[in-house]
Amino acid sequence: MIERVLAIETSCDDTSVAIVDRSGWVHSVVAASQDLEHELYGGIVPEIAARNHSIALIPLIEEAFKKAGMSWSDIHGIAVTNRPGLIGALIVGLVTAKSLSQAKKIPFLGVNHLEGHLLAPFLKDSQYSPPEDFGYPYVGLAISGGHTSLYQIKGLGDYKVLGATRDDAAGECFDKFAKMAGLGFPGGVRVDQLAKTGNPEAFEFPRSMIHDDTFDMSFSGLKASGQRMLEQLGPELVQEQLPDLCASFQEAIVDVLIAKLDRAAKVYRAKRVILTGGVSANSRLRARAEKWAAEKGLTLVVPPIRYCTDNAAMIGYAGVLRMAQGETSAMDLGPSPQALT
Ligand code: KG4
Ligand code: ZN
Repeated sequence: MIERVLAIETSCDDTSVAIVDRSGWVHSVVAASQDLEHELYGGIVPEIAARNHSIALIPLIEEAFKKAGMSWSDIHGIAVTNRPGLIGALIVGLVTAKSLSQAKKIPFLGVNHLEGHLLAPFLKDSQYSPPEDFGYPYVGLAISGGHTSLYQIKGLGDYKVLGATRDDAAGECFDKFAKMAGLGFPGGVRVDQLAKTGNPEAFEFPRSMIHDDTFDMSFSGLKASGQRMLEQLGPELVQEQLPDLCASFQEAIVDVLIAKLDRAAKVYRAKRVILTGGVSANSRLRARAEKWAAEKGLTLVVPPIRYCTDNAAMIGYAGVLRMAQGETSAMDLGPSPQALT
């Protein structure tokens, strides 16, 4: 029986390894960030991401074992993200998983990164466990630098895409605005910090598709509007008004996300809602979502940030559940750009 897996996540710019049980218990999760390398270029450079994964991965696997106090004899399978993501980055994780699977004579399974994000609320460790009443079905909003999508999650492997951004992801929109305002990369967290002392009504930004009757979103108009506003003001005024600019820009994103979540919860009569992905670290989004959920009588689960951003623990959990059902991948499995459909 597959009870415990080693998990590998290399789909974007974070290298992460975890050891996870079928119960969701995380024995260890370790990661190497590449933010400093990519900051020099103002965005993620796929070639650099792949190269850094290949340097960091094996030492991280050793560290994950050490932290868990375990060895290969405790591991029944290997879960690895094989879709979607940067192809070169995915290949590093995938070939490592295949090699270890052959060397250690245990099965491996390719896991969808988005499935990992959607199941992250079930993870457990000494500091976090989901609320007692948490379980299927629930509505999930996955928001990160690469994706912004709404799902109905009815069970393992039973996911319905309700809607998604038609252009930029919310995280990308945060990051581009931050970069244009001179706040570095990735800048979502800087916008969040500066916005705390700003007035969200100081500047007007568009909220595209907020009232249309789909679950789709669009952030490219907001991104362009942010750029125009920064150019019109000029560097000195931008510097002076950064808190107000950040608060107003952030509010436009949060308004759209909450409106779509509200619509999905209503239409699908949800009792439980989750936020997942790096942008769910945003303090304004969390506060607004908590207030909204309390008003509607919904259970809102936002996993701790270590399980919201890209991490191998969520991949391990999705993988161990599937492997326990008998799923494995063949040696010819390749990386793929396929999201959850
Ligand atoms: O899930 P994640 O770690 O990686 C991707 O799959 O993209 O998400 C990273 C994204 C970045 O766009 C980053 O700026 C954003 O999450 N982010 C935030 C905050 N913290 C991280 N955005 C807004 N406010 C934050 N506090
Ligand atoms: Zn992600």
